[in-house]
Amino acid sequence: MRVGVLTGGGDCPGLNAVIRAAVRKGIQQHGDEFVGFLEGWRGVLDNNTMPLTLETTSGILHLGGTILRTSRTNVRKIEGGLDACMKTFKANKLDALIAIGGDDTQSVSNALIEKGLQVVGVPKTIDNDLSGTDACFGFDTAVSIATEAVDRLHSTAESHNRVIVCEVMGRDAGWIAITTGIAGGADAILVPEKPIDLDHVCKLITHRREHGKKFSIVVVAEGAKLPSGGNATYGDKVDSFGHARLSGIGQALADAIEEKTGYETRSVNLGHTQRGGTPTAYDRMLATRYGAAAIDLVHAGNFGRLVVLRGTQITNIPLADAIAKTRTVDEGLLELAASLEPKV
Ligand code: F6P
Repeated sequence: MRVGVLTGGGDCPGLNAVIRAAVRKGIQQHGDEFVGFLEGWRGVLDNNTMPLTLETTSGILHLGGTILRTSRTNVRKIEGGLDACMKTFKANKLDALIAIGGDDTQSVSNALIEKGLQVVGVPKTIDNDLSGTDACFGFDTAVSIATEAVDRLHSTAESHNRVIVCEVMGRDAGWIAITTGIAGGADAILVPEKPIDLDHVCKLITHRREHGKKFSIVVVAEGAKLPSGGNATYGDKVDSFGHARLSGIGQALADAIEEKTGYETRSVNLGHTQRGGTPTAYDRMLATRYGAAAIDLVHAGNFGRLVVLRGTQITNIPLADAIAKTRTVDEGLLELAASLEPKV
């Protein structure tokens, strides 16, 4: 078969592992040919491709980013965009497409599936917020990087008797924040799922000081709501999928904490360091399993599906189900985080 592959949306550690697994299994077990589209859906619109062979996908397993590069291109917003994509697939004589991406990328997949395109999706996002799967590759790497950063912030915060607020990614879900906060032993963890209670955060910090601890670490998700309501954003521009650039809650919170408690407070925004660099072994494994499962679905003729992890098993669900809603942090984790706080 001739199979197209693309990576769309924000990059994510493990993308290359998916590409490599699908291409190796497809070529070695089925004699497939692969066409890689460059820069996500933009490459499909412009018919900008690279060959994906055993050679071009060799030595990429441990590399961050994506050899296909990526973009946030919303084909549905471009006049004639979906038809242009269909034309490109025809021109490349493709039998199927493997689309590796999050909800935005898969919303375009879904529109093309409705036009008859044979697509298999692979879920990708460090935010871990895609419905239908228990895990997205990239999340484990992001949490590992953020947890290491929190560990490092401990010693500098302690040396200076400071509060440090660490802002992490995650968009409208608090998965990175809550996992990093619990794993890194933060004094307060703030997620979009629960409005920020500034009085409570300050009480937690003051309680620590009164009980001998001279510093505090707060982990806040970029999508957590400001005490005054609304998100902190960088400028007011939105991308082609309508997303604002979330950024700044950490600094706003640090200012508010310093003002209310009198303790010297700093903020750190981990930003794109969470998305860069080599994937963890867990993410390489998950991504490899997804890539192999995706080419299996192509050969089973099982299109319009998204490969997912349920428990420890790889299975698949209708792609449309995955984009229907954001998977937010579950009550159990919120309760766990709350149970680790002192009574104030
Ligand atoms: O969706 C992944 C993500 O890293 C979010 O956590 C973050 O809000 C966003 O992408 C940042 O996007 P960009 O790289 O376009 O600034």
